[in-house]
Parts: sequence; C-alpha cells; structure tokens
Amino acid sequence: LRDQLLAAIDTASALDTLEACRVEALGKQGRVTQLLKTLGAMSPEQRQVEGPAIHGLREAVTAAIATRKTALEQLALDARLSAERVDLTLPVDATPTGTIHPVSQVMDELAEIFADLGFAVATGPELETDWHNFTALNIPETHPARAMHDTFYLAGQEGTGGIDDRETPRVLRTHTSPVQIRTMLANKPPIRIIAPGRTYRSDSDATHTPMFHQVEGLVIDKGITLGHLKWTLETFLKAFFERDDIVLRLRPSYFPFTEPSAEIDVGYTIEKGKRVIGGHPGGQGGGGWLEVLGSGMVHPKVIAACGLDPAEWQGFAFGCGIDRLAMLKYGMDDLRAFFDGDIRWLKHYGFSA
Ligand code: PHE
Repeated sequence: LRDQLLAAIDTASALDTLEACRVEALGKQGRVTQLLKTLGAMSPEQRQVEGPAIHGLREAVTAAIATRKTALEQLALDARLSAERVDLTLPVDATPTGTIHPVSQVMDELAEIFADLGFAVATGPELETDWHNFTALNIPETHPARAMHDTFYLAGQEGTGGIDDRETPRVLRTHTSPVQIRTMLANKPPIRIIAPGRTYRSDSDATHTPMFHQVEGLVIDKGITLGHLKWTLETFLKAFFERDDIVLRLRPSYFPFTEPSAEIDVGYTIEKGKRVIGGHPGGQGGGGWLEVLGSGMVHPKVIAACGLDPAEWQGFAFGCGIDRLAMLKYGMDDLRAFFDGDIRWLKHYGFSA
C-alpha cells in the first residue's frame, strides 16, 4: 500500500491530481484513515507492532504530499514566469501624442499652396482699431457691419476713439481684411500675401461660432485684372480640393472695399450618393453650388487710403472662411465641434504630425 500511495503522489502532474491522492489516502474515507481506525480494535501486542507502522505510513504520505506540492507550485511559477517574461528588447510604446487640429492643417495647406504662387504670409492683430477694420476699408459709419450685434467692442471703448483713430484698439476684428490695410501701409507694391487668422462676430449656431477663422488674400501690382483673380482662385481651389475638374461660378456681389465684387461658388456633384466638390453641377448626377469665397478688385478708395495712387496700382482681394473649407474637404458637419476641445473629436478628425 505504501509504495502504491507514494508512487501516485510522486507522479501527480498537477495540484488537483495531488489533492485527489491526499483524499484517497488521508481523507475521511481514506485508506490510511481506515487503517488508523482498525488500531482501536487490536490487542495491545498487535497495536504495539501495527501502531508505529500505520502512523509511520501516515507521516510518510503527508511528507510526500508536501514535497510534491512544493515541486508542483515551483513548476507552475516557472511556467508563469517564462510566459509573462518582460522582453526588454521590444520597442517601447510611443508616448501618446496629440493631433493637428483641422484648422491648423488647412492653414498649413493654404500657406503651402499660395507659397507656390508666390504669396507670402502676413499677419495682423486680433484687437483692431475701428479705422483698420472699417474706415480704411470704405465701410461707412452707417454700414450694418458696424452694428453692435455683429461686432464685439472692447469694454469701455464703445464710445471712444473716432473712426479716424488709427491707434486705439476698439474691436475684435470682424474679418481679416484689415490685414490688407496694414500690409499696404507697411510695404511697397508689388504685394502678394495671404493672411490667415482668427476673426470674431457675435453669432452662434451650427455653422457660426463667435470666433472663427478666415484667410485673406491680396495682390497689388500694375495691370491686375479680374482674370488674374479668377485664375488664382481656380488654381488654389484645384490644389486644395485635389481635383482638376473644379468649376467656379462668379456671382456679382457687394463689398464696400472691392469694386466690382464677386462671390465665388464652387460646383459640387453627387458621387456614389455622396456630395463631392468638383465636376459640373449641370451633369447627369445632379449637384449644385456652394459659396466659398468673397472677392473683388480692390476699391480705389482703399488703395488711396493706404497712400497709393489708384491710377498706378490695382489689385484684387479675397476672403474665405477656413473652418468652412475644412468642413467641405474633411466632412465635418457641426462647426461648434471645432472649438469644443473634445479629445475624441480631435483624435478622429485631427492629423498626425
Ligand atoms: N471681408 C469679407 C468678409 O468677411 C470677405 C472679403 C475679403 C470680400 C476680401 C472681398 C475681398 O466677408
């Protein structure tokens, strides 16, 4: 019996098999337990012989189980250690990085496209004077763009600073057009610049936020015509939307600082049930026009306000919502999400560096 029990214990291959061996030998109905029970019925002489033998058997079995248990536990631990070993030669996970906001991405794309056309990037302050934001741009004092409900005035500045004050910031610029003025005052023509940046109007819904982004374009040179304007915008939009079949529509419009003025629509068509910029809207698949830009020939009064002779210098200008460009190219539908800072949105729509 002893050899049988010890052999079973030594070959137990797992902890549960070993436990079965223990129950078989030492459990309530176990074989060693049964033997111990027989001691009571023995004669004293017999017990003197059998007693130590049976107790010895119990001790041997108990010790064997303990030894085997330690061995099995060690085996299990070794297996776990080799399975879970940390491989120090593996490359580490890259540190989590943020993404490039679609607005920043589009600004970079704009700068790159226009750089190829010979345009430099210009900037101006977001806190503007009344004169740069309105007066010099031929926006008379009665123009609706000056009304309080559109323009954010700086606290305490509503009533001060005349429309000819070129020093005191009074408004959050309502468009990037004041950069036209600052550029013409600071540089001699020929001028070719774009001016991307933040602009502000008191307005808020799915397609308007109080802060938004525009890019201004300005060319001042000799003999500039509407043809230059159209070619430039067509070349820009083809590069931006990455399609050769971009169709433009120039719609007569009004801006105080350009004459003539045109709003630029870009044609879209339906491809596989989706609206895509490009193709002629008159085609079979249907489609339509989307307004993307305001533009025109720089008004002679604006050129004169900057100290240049309108008889010598002409030019064109355009202004365009950057957020809207991003929405059209990358397919977002709610402008407000641009400025919520929701990390999931940024991960989804953002660009890797
Ligand atoms: N500043 C105009 C706007 O905010 C856009 C524009 C810029 C129009 C330049 C013509 C020329 O809507």
